[in-house]
Amino acid sequence: MISLLVRYLKDYRLPMILVFVFVLSQAAAQLYLPSMMGDIIENGVAQGNTPYILTSGAWMLGVSLFAAICMVASSYYSAYVTASFTSRIRADVFDKVKDFSQTDFNQFGAATLLTRSTTDATQMQIVVINGLRSLLLVPITGVGALIMAFRENVMLTLLLLVSFLITTLIIGFTTARSMPLFKNMQQKVDRLNLLMKEKLTGVRAIRAFNRQDYETEKFEEANQEGFATALKANYAVAFFAPLMQLMMNLTMVVILWLGSQQVQQQIVSLGGLMVFIQYVLMFMSALGLVSALLMAYPQAAVSAARVKEVLDMDFSIQDPKETVALTDITGKITFDKVSFGYSGAEINVLEQLNFQAEPGKITAIVGATGSGKTTLVNLIMRLYEVSQGAIKIDGIDIRDCAQQDLRNMIAYAPQESVLFSGTVLDNIRIGNQNASEEEVQKALATAQALDFINEREGQLLSTISQGGKDLSGGQRQRLSIARAVVKKAPITIFDDCFSALDFKTDSLVRKAIGEEFSNQTVLIVAQRISTIKNADLILVLDNGAIVGQGRHDELIRECAVYQEILKSQSYSDGKEESL
Ligand SMILES: Nc1ncnc2c1ncn2[C@@H]1O[C@H](COP(=O)(O)OP(=O)(O)OP(=O)(O)O)[C@@H](O)[C@H]1O
Ligand SMILES: [Mg+2]
Repeated sequence: MISLLVRYLKDYRLPMILVFVFVLSQAAAQLYLPSMMGDIIENGVAQGNTPYILTSGAWMLGVSLFAAICMVASSYYSAYVTASFTSRIRADVFDKVKDFSQTDFNQFGAATLLTRSTTDATQMQIVVINGLRSLLLVPITGVGALIMAFRENVMLTLLLLVSFLITTLIIGFTTARSMPLFKNMQQKVDRLNLLMKEKLTGVRAIRAFNRQDYETEKFEEANQEGFATALKANYAVAFFAPLMQLMMNLTMVVILWLGSQQVQQQIVSLGGLMVFIQYVLMFMSALGLVSALLMAYPQAAVSAARVKEVLDMDFSIQDPKETVALTDITGKITFDKVSFGYSGAEINVLEQLNFQAEPGKITAIVGATGSGKTTLVNLIMRLYEVSQGAIKIDGIDIRDCAQQDLRNMIAYAPQESVLFSGTVLDNIRIGNQNASEEEVQKALATAQALDFINEREGQLLSTISQGGKDLSGGQRQRLSIARAVVKKAPITIFDDCFSALDFKTDSLVRKAIGEEFSNQTVLIVAQRISTIKNADLILVLDNGAIVGQGRHDELIRECAVYQEILKSQSYSDGKEESL
């Protein structure tokens, strides 16, 4: 936790210096107050000197006011530092995750990354805001009060120290015990977030299968678990405050009892005892601040470790020190004995793939579900690293160039279309920020999406509700295709994004793509043979291996797997032919 704080707080030197200055002034003023009171009692009250009481009282009031102003100012600046610090942490977590490879992302999962950038950051915020002020105030007022108290009354101060030691021991023990509990608690919050996310995105499926009760029960269970763990963790620290109170009151009673005897025996004066008690109170309130800090500390330390884990994670895919520039790329893709297995899995998903996708040609990939098609295209974008062999673009190994350069060369329409809240125009321009409205219109026309967009109120500027919920599956796919088209990259990959289109639209989109991408490399992943039968090269993938490659008519003759796929689709294929 400390290292994370140092890393971030060093950018806020000036406001932190201001916090310290104000805290220092506040502490000095507060330390001065009891001795002023002692003076009033000794010189004013005891001797019936009313003018002295009044002038000194006015002074005391002024000093208190000054302390109050300093306190407000220090609170303001510490709040400023803390809020900036938390938002920086959130931004950095976001920034880091943005560059995660798919492997890195899978290692954490979306839910825990969400908790880490929200709840965990807030936990740290609580400690920092208290800590910043207490850091100086506590040692100064605490130690200052102790020294002043010592000067007033040695014996009673020793008593105070003993009670302080006992409390510290108990608090230390409780803190150590509660840390693992808080870690467990944050993990439970992760799980709750995960369930919540699944439920919100899958709400239609849950309703369709009438699984509301079951899902509610599952959520309740996780919620209860979280509740129980939170209770247990907080139970441990809940003893802090009452324990401190008890110790303080007990100490006070003993001090008063012994103190009154000392007064009776005229060892100390009444004024002296009262001043001493003021310092004891001040010392105890400093302890109160520490205990508030300690109560929040275990939880924040766990949170800090979780945030740090994300921030300090080494990317599993990194750019080489010297990158090869990708200029004047034609877009020729070469797979040279490429094998790949997901981390943790025992067998390879792709085995010894060899093929070339040429510019100006359409290369298609067909194969049963789960045969590795999406994995193959993810490898080209270097979302995962090949386990063996090499993927080359125009002869350059993709590991030798910067990931950003590589992805600039590639346009991609994923299998699951992803739309963001915003206008249609914004969504298409994700493909190419500089695309003019005409270019966007043209891309929409290629994707056969222009008609339904024009029917919407506001057309290009009509807003898409969250995730494209107000569009049909096929409409979403067409927008996703248009986004890839508008990029006009040397390599364009369509991952099974024609699946929700009817045959007629499917064939129109393909025709338009064929015309538009006459010089680029186009990769089309498809389940339906009808979608790719005109491709220049068809790769047949079966269980991660290429079992046939060639044109449609060649594969019909030579590739058994291709024949099988075709046979299973013969009805729909025949229908398409009549269009
Ligand atoms: N992130 C992952 N971690 C581990 N295994 C994975 C992961 N993604 C996919 N797999 C496995 O890799 C294999 C190939 O998956 P892939 O998504 O490439 O298939 P696909 O050919 O695209 O299938 P579909 O036609 O259904 O989209 C599957 O057996 C799948 O279980
Ligand atoms: Mg797939």
